[in-house]
Amino acid sequence: MPKTLLAIETSCDETSAAVLVGTADGATLRSCVILSQDVHRIFGGVVPELASRAHLTTIGPVVDQALAEAGISLEEVEAIAVTAGPGLVGALLVGLMYGKTLAFRLAVPLIGVHHLEGHLFAAPLEQPDLGPPFVALLVSGGHTLLLDVPAWGEYRLLGTTRDDAAGEAFDKVGTLLGLEYPAGAMIERLALTGTAGRFSFPRPMLNTLSDDGPDRFAFSFSGLKTALLRAVRASDDLERDRADLARGFQDAAVAVLAAKVAAARELLGYPTVVLAGGVACNTALRNAVEAAVGSEVRVAVASNRLNTDNAAMIGAAGLFHLQRGEQHGLDLQPDAGLPFPGLVTAFPLPSLTR
Ligand code: KG4
Ligand code: ZN
Repeated sequence: MPKTLLAIETSCDETSAAVLVGTADGATLRSCVILSQDVHRIFGGVVPELASRAHLTTIGPVVDQALAEAGISLEEVEAIAVTAGPGLVGALLVGLMYGKTLAFRLAVPLIGVHHLEGHLFAAPLEQPDLGPPFVALLVSGGHTLLLDVPAWGEYRLLGTTRDDAAGEAFDKVGTLLGLEYPAGAMIERLALTGTAGRFSFPRPMLNTLSDDGPDRFAFSFSGLKTALLRAVRASDDLERDRADLARGFQDAAVAVLAAKVAAARELLGYPTVVLAGGVACNTALRNAVEAAVGSEVRVAVASNRLNTDNAAMIGAAGLFHLQRGEQHGLDLQPDAGLPFPGLVTAFPLPSLTR
């Protein structure tokens, strides 16, 4: 039976609510309201205390707006999905308390969703025929995960970052280049006008692809960031060099990500690759992955709106868990370090080949 579900996401600096109608096999998005907090721009990063306060002010109107846009009343909501972690604990708390209160008042099931599992469900919302098995690259401001997804709810970790997340590297490089936070989209725009190869930066951990050990699909971005810092310091005209530096950085980061995704895809033999998270908005990344995997492989990416943080993806993941008969009690607590449900390590690698 299709369910009408209200989803809430407040893990970082977006207050978002969405209404979905559907089952685990397919959901229709009826509304998705995303309110981005601008206040953090002037601080060059998200200030947790300010994020919590802004969520408190806006969560009520954002939920009301999502219901209004979906054309339903609160009483028609049959389940609540809310991000329980990971994220900023004070920010998570606001959405979770709101969701719990609504679930209690309406006497409907509550389901706490893992934010990163949510990101994986974004593209299938827009491409209903999309499903496992696939290789997923989840690249956001806080995480970089290369995953083997043989089935929904089963996730095998192929590789992650040793230091900075991919989005974090874009944002830090942005600061070095004098750009506003978050800088990913601006670096992409600058790189379009930059000259390729004028600055040639290292491609970190690309050489580990031939390893059999856990470094094979691992990433590292801090050395690349340091190389960029040196180049910025050595520049006598940052205005002139900015676009070329952005291009050099993006080319290096994207080359490593694309090469590892393609190698994992080849190893597993899956027909599909899914790119998810805020950095998946990057067209250069998408193009590089498409070129690396070849035209036989489907490269699925959500629209930019659903790649960055939103409640629609939380709702889609919530529906999946609800249909499996899972739900949480009202004692559910926000967890900044919530473990990814169903995630196991894929190593040792020989077990990868089925
Ligand atoms: O998934 P997301 O919205 O939030 C987190 O869960 O972190 O990802 C935000 C990240 C930021 O680091 C931002 O700079 C990056 O995604 N980003 C991009 C682009 N658009 C957003 N990075 C590279 N290119 C883009 N076009
Ligand atoms: Zn996210």
